[in-house]
Amino acid sequence: MINKKILSLPGDCIGPEVMAEALKVMNWFSSRGLINFEIEKGLVGGSSYDEFGTPLTEEVIKLANESDAVLFGSIGGPKWDDVNYDLRPEKGLLSLRQSMGLFANLRPAIVFDALVDASSLKPDLVKGLNIIIVRELIGGIYFGEPRGIKQLENNQRIGFNTQSYSTEEIIRIARVAFELAGKRNKKVCSVDKANVMESGVVWREETLKLCNQHYPNIELEHMFVDNCSMQLVKSPKQFDVILTDNLFGDILSDLAAMLTGSLGMLPSASLGSKNQNGKMPSLYEPVHGSAPDIAGKKIANPIAQILSLAMMLKYSFDLDKEASLIDDAVQLVLSENIRTSDIFEGVGKPVGTSEMGDAIVTKLDIIAEN
Ligand code: IPM
Ligand code: MN
Repeated sequence: MINKKILSLPGDCIGPEVMAEALKVMNWFSSRGLINFEIEKGLVGGSSYDEFGTPLTEEVIKLANESDAVLFGSIGGPKWDDVNYDLRPEKGLLSLRQSMGLFANLRPAIVFDALVDASSLKPDLVKGLNIIIVRELIGGIYFGEPRGIKQLENNQRIGFNTQSYSTEEIIRIARVAFELAGKRNKKVCSVDKANVMESGVVWREETLKLCNQHYPNIELEHMFVDNCSMQLVKSPKQFDVILTDNLFGDILSDLAAMLTGSLGMLPSASLGSKNQNGKMPSLYEPVHGSAPDIAGKKIANPIAQILSLAMMLKYSFDLDKEASLIDDAVQLVLSENIRTSDIFEGVGKPVGTSEMGDAIVTKLDIIAEN
């Protein structure tokens, strides 16, 4: 049997609730003798701060680096609003991305046929939408130095950050986008603000050079980020792979996720470079946040967390068939109108988090037996 060592980091608020359902799916694979998951658990974000006074411990970084992949829930909540800036839950996630070297963030925005009416856009604009944002994750303005807050005279302060990208940083993320596009519709739209920012000029030139030299079969287009956000709402299906930096990717991926009308459905992958042993650091998390407003109510949609597990099987372990089992089980559940309240459309009665997990496991049984 295939053996995989997973670090589960449920995090805060609804994080542990949805993670419990992904664990049910992992147990299903183990009980069927398909994949044996050896699961470690750790604290991250606010729950780590409460226990250890820091949102990310050295112990968790070590466990993450020793695991074959990390399954992450979600972090943050109003409980930690007054915590010192450097110890906020978000800082735990940022430091984990950085210490694992997770430079590539893959965020698919897919419209499920059964949920086409959940989008705020007209159905024909989004029906069949399947795009993916490739976001640089450990560079740019999120991490650039110098940064800080300076006290000036006359009661004035100045807050400042630095945006910069080197050739090396641009090439390694652009390569991910071109490779991915090669397995899809062979179109990459690279997004920058080269009309205003020098970091964008270098981004644009290096991407173009790499494409011309190594990916002649890929159709590369450049777009300014303001135009891209407009095009995403105007005609989202024109895109295949969108390649962009850390900050623009953060913003555009929320926009793209909402096009689908079902934030609770979208998974994501954060990947690093393979090491000498061929192991690639990786972390999988739902795109939705920790949803403090519904935490504890047992109504959160666990599908994004479960699809994040499917992405892990595909991207970290090349287990495409097993990943499709999960995708198919989710499709089946949706087609039978089994819905959590966020995607409920008035037919029948919405189910809770745990019933949704159980329904997906039941469908896995049915699919596996056929
Ligand atoms: C995301 C989140 C994070 C980010 C926060 C929580 C630090 O918004 O993953 O998109 O800005 O990257
Ligand atoms: Mn974000």
